[in-house]
Amino acid sequence: MQSFLSALQKNTCFAFLILLLLPGVAAASSATQAEKIVKEQCTVCHRVTGEAKSRFELKAPDLMWAGVKFKRPWLVSFLTGNQENIYQKNYRWDESTQPAKHLALSKENAEAVADYIKKNLVDSRVKQDAIDLTHFTELHAAFGRQLFIEHSCTGCHQIMDNGKKMGGPQSTSMFNSGERLNKDWILRFNSNPPDFVPHSGEFVADVSELGLHYVTGFLATEGDESFKFYEPWKSEHFQKADANRGSVIYKEYCAQCHGSKGEGDGPAASGLEPKPAVHAKMAMDQMPLDYLYNVVYYGGKAVGKSHYMPYWGLTIGEQGVADVISYMRTTFKGGEEVAAASGGKAAPSGDCPQARKTKSAPSKFLKMPNPLKASAENIKAGESLFLKEAKPLACAQCHGKVGNGKGPMGGGLTPSPRNFTCVATMTELEDGQLFWIIKNGSSGTGMLAYQGLKDDDIWKLVLYIRELAK
Ligand code: HEC
Ligand code: HEC
Ligand code: HEC
Ligand code: HEC
Repeated sequence: MQSFLSALQKNTCFAFLILLLLPGVAAASSATQAEKIVKEQCTVCHRVTGEAKSRFELKAPDLMWAGVKFKRPWLVSFLTGNQENIYQKNYRWDESTQPAKHLALSKENAEAVADYIKKNLVDSRVKQDAIDLTHFTELHAAFGRQLFIEHSCTGCHQIMDNGKKMGGPQSTSMFNSGERLNKDWILRFNSNPPDFVPHSGEFVADVSELGLHYVTGFLATEGDESFKFYEPWKSEHFQKADANRGSVIYKEYCAQCHGSKGEGDGPAASGLEPKPAVHAKMAMDQMPLDYLYNVVYYGGKAVGKSHYMPYWGLTIGEQGVADVISYMRTTFKGGEEVAAASGGKAAPSGDCPQARKTKSAPSKFLKMPNPLKASAENIKAGESLFLKEAKPLACAQCHGKVGNGKGPMGGGLTPSPRNFTCVATMTELEDGQLFWIIKNGSSGTGMLAYQGLKDDDIWKLVLYIRELAK
């Protein structure tokens, strides 16, 4: 090709023609160049054709489905040497545990090879849009992550947990699987791993179809900042929600625990601890919609609360959830205290000293000192978590803006939320106690487990809570 071009360049008569032809020539030459690279260099280690084989007979992962397995931007980045190793130990962990640096190509060659792979290394078993993630929510990803842990996946694959690597580094790491892997390939792989990697230490899990959806969605979004999660509370079901239809649902499904007037005195209530929330004493119109949606659709356990609160989504559907929330928000506005607080009058004071239902943390935790300094910056960060940012629900919703236990939801809970302004009660509690309860919840009370909060954030909350009793 090169000698052909230089022959042409010597001949000025052809100069015009070359200009016209060049773009086409460049594309064709990079495709042939790419094919050459793949066949001559890559296949020294990788296979690009043939049936799936055991890892023990291979030098490197099979690439015959690479075109449908990887996302192009990641592939280019990997091939230019800009990604960490996927296998924390060598791919051939039976031979060596030192991972080697992967061969790196120039940007131009990597682009061409990625295009070649996308076009030629495809697999008809992987169907485009076999998994639909347009309705995939952040909570679904959290379910998928939970299943990933519960089904031993972290026994062989690592994920990030609290800023640290968690799991056994035997196989590929999943820190940024959402940037690396194509969702349809993950679904097909997860459906039966031995179709791709037989006799290689792979694992077939016993997961329901819904569970498969969650796990696949988790892997397909993990580390992918560009993914937009679906927000059901912004859907058209909420725009056309109807409080009258919702009141019928409340009578048929909710009253058995929460009582027909929302007083928390339904027939099931006597046997439950924590007690069903007294909706009549909650300012439901001040409670965040996303939280209400998640607790009603997916139940108490999904938001770190009691499993006595069932998941209603499958029974009443998304429209039913929107309707019953609309009914509750128009009916339950909270007690007098909430009205006083929101009317700008002096905040009501909480009980002090206050009886506590919460149990003591294990002694190992009780003795834990707060590793963070009580700097203005840390306290400020704790404050914004407390007032707004903590997920799934800001602390102020129950513990109140001033920390006295009189938030919009506080009045509906038995026992009432802790009054952090009460010096008499708070001086008896150690930092490790506060840390433990925020992380794990307080069973038998309305205090939820904040499993999604990083340890550092919990310690910042503890610093802020200490300020409230000063
Ligand atoms: C010397 C052997 C060797 C050569 C040559 C080589 N690779 Fe690799 N390749 C590996 C190994 C080993 C891994 C696993 C590396 C890791 O842990 O990140 C790998 C991983 C990959 C992956 C990710 C695979 C997966 O399933 O996650 C891709 C894609 C890839 N190589 C493409 C290529 C391409 C394209 C070429 C040619 C330009 C090439 N490799 C050349 C050994 C090689
Ligand atoms: C006992 C070890 C083990 C367990 C447990 C395990 N895997 Fe794997 N997984 C493997 C092996 C081995 C491979 C193949 C990687 C290779 O060698 O090329 C693999 C590959 C994968 C891949 C392809 C990733 C890639 O980058 O090529 C996905 C996706 C995957 N596993 C998901 C899961 C899920 C989901 C679970 C839990 C239900 C799970 N794995 C549990 C061993 C395991
Ligand atoms: C089997 C009993 C039961 C039924 C039926 C029930 N709930 Fe609940 N619900 C509870 C319990 C118990 C709690 C308190 C959970 C906790 O604090 O951990 C609760 C709490 C709540 C909360 C407040 C969440 C919070 O953070 O305090 C809302 C809102 C709610 N339920 C709505 C509903 C709706 C709407 C229905 C009907 C579609 C319903 N519940 C049906 C038992 C029930
Ligand atoms: C849904 C209501 C609710 C929310 C939201 C909530 N709490 Fe609580 N919290 C409670 C209740 C109820 C108790 C239990 C009171 C008792 O033990 O009698 C409690 C107890 C506690 C305790 C236990 C103190 C002790 O006595 O040992 C701490 C610490 C705490 N909450 C911190 C927080 C923080 C920090 C947040 C936000 C990240 C938060 N809570 C969010 C309702 C809530």
